Amino acid sequence: MKKDYILPSLNEARKRNKEVSDKLSFSLDNRYRTLGEGKKYFIITHGCQANQRDSETMAGLLDQMGYQMCDDEKDADVILINTCAVRQNAEEKVLGEVGALKRLKKENPDLIIGIGGCMAQEEETVRTIMEKYRQVDIIFGTHNITSLPKLLYDVCMTKERKIEVFSKMGEIVESVPVTRFMSHKAWVNIMYGCDKFCSYCIVPYTRGKERSRYREDIIYEVNELVAQGYKEVCLLGQNVNAYGKDLKIDYTFGNLLNDVARTGIQRIRFMTSHPWDFDDTMIKAIRNNPNIMPYIHLPIQSGNTQILKKMNRRYSREEYFELFDKLKAQLPGFAFTTDIIVGFPNESDEAFEDTLSAVDHCRYDNAFTFIYSAREGTPAAKMEDTTDRKTKEERLQRLNEKVAYYANLNNQKFKDQIVEVLVDGLSKRNSKVYSGYSRENKLVNFTGEDIKTGDIVKVRINEVMSFSLNGEAIREDSH
Ligand code: 5AD
Ligand code: SF4
Repeated sequence: MKKDYILPSLNEARKRNKEVSDKLSFSLDNRYRTLGEGKKYFIITHGCQANQRDSETMAGLLDQMGYQMCDDEKDADVILINTCAVRQNAEEKVLGEVGALKRLKKENPDLIIGIGGCMAQEEETVRTIMEKYRQVDIIFGTHNITSLPKLLYDVCMTKERKIEVFSKMGEIVESVPVTRFMSHKAWVNIMYGCDKFCSYCIVPYTRGKERSRYREDIIYEVNELVAQGYKEVCLLGQNVNAYGKDLKIDYTFGNLLNDVARTGIQRIRFMTSHPWDFDDTMIKAIRNNPNIMPYIHLPIQSGNTQILKKMNRRYSREEYFELFDKLKAQLPGFAFTTDIIVGFPNESDEAFEDTLSAVDHCRYDNAFTFIYSAREGTPAAKMEDTTDRKTKEERLQRLNEKVAYYANLNNQKFKDQIVEVLVDGLSKRNSKVYSGYSRENKLVNFTGEDIKTGDIVKVRINEVMSFSLNGEAIREDSH
């Protein structure tokens, strides 16, 4: 069958150059400004914080085109699915969702369905969608979000399916509109892409090379957020420690942390730190600025040096411990979390035991644990793997029990203590209870009066669970 579209290429996406990325400035073409008048859109977001932030950009673009966001997909004229490709089960879920949208499309043939995000960068996935999911009108890659207005316009004008996925991109686009989904906490991209190429991970292929935003643009954005009343920013990058390296200037993530802290924003978080490049300037900045929250996410992935080597993680078990112990000693009172993969190709029982003992060593506050999922196009997908699924599931189970044990143990020290909570709103589970996060990133559920989203309140903890704390807001005038 002759194809009238160009597929993305993971092979192309693998290539890297050393050039400083171009910076472009976005402005919306006048032709697109009224396309959405009287129409509604609905966005479904999967995956990580980078995707959450990208969905806010999609919303910003659609709002500028006159569309209005709605909260029921049945009312929508445009449905966008922002996808994640990190594990197979996330992909399957999306294809199920797209399948279910066929019915809506039948009822409303003018409905436009768009697929964006990391799955749109994968050649096999795009081929499948083009051939088997005819209800999809637009496929746009992670580098093509700003083309969304044009793609929507073209679909409306021509009634043809449109696909735009660039496999290689070295650009930073500024001045792109954004509609933030929260009014008290904001995601702030500081860099895009990843050059680490861990052997299991699809992200360096789907999100391109590491490219940092200029510090002026980041600081400008944080200052604007402060002026708008935001209480917290989370600085985002696949590997924030590498910030600035591609710009070839003498300014690193540690320097950026100090400058963001100077804006006066009340809370600063950052995600994710690779153990590589976690330098002393960073540690100093984190220690010296009270508005940088006492919480560090430091993915270990495995506790076995041979597996780490096969994962291309660039550190051994001992080197990770050295960094971890240093951070723990120099940053007292901080909470530490991690990511762990079990069942990497041919992980032996002994190698898995090393992961368990690494958790004993680090006593994490929490860990995000995953069964390895082979991603086509990555080096690990070609490695032989004879471990059966059941063994992998048992390992995950054992690991999760250990993680829960230390999570609980760490939380015990909060019993009867007062923690400071940034309020997210009423708890999803119980409408009489508020919820939010402590400085240490602990989920806190609490009761209280006259409390609003975005308040920072003191809460006395009276009950400790493994993955949350329960308490009661204390009145400021009572102490
Ligand atoms: N299989 C399982 N887990 C993965 N992660 C990344 N790629 C894979 C994969 N192929 C996990 C890593 C990473 C987190 C975001 O997702 O632990 O840190
Ligand atoms: Fe994937 Fe490794 Fe990059 Fe994280 S650092 S996005 S795990 S390649």
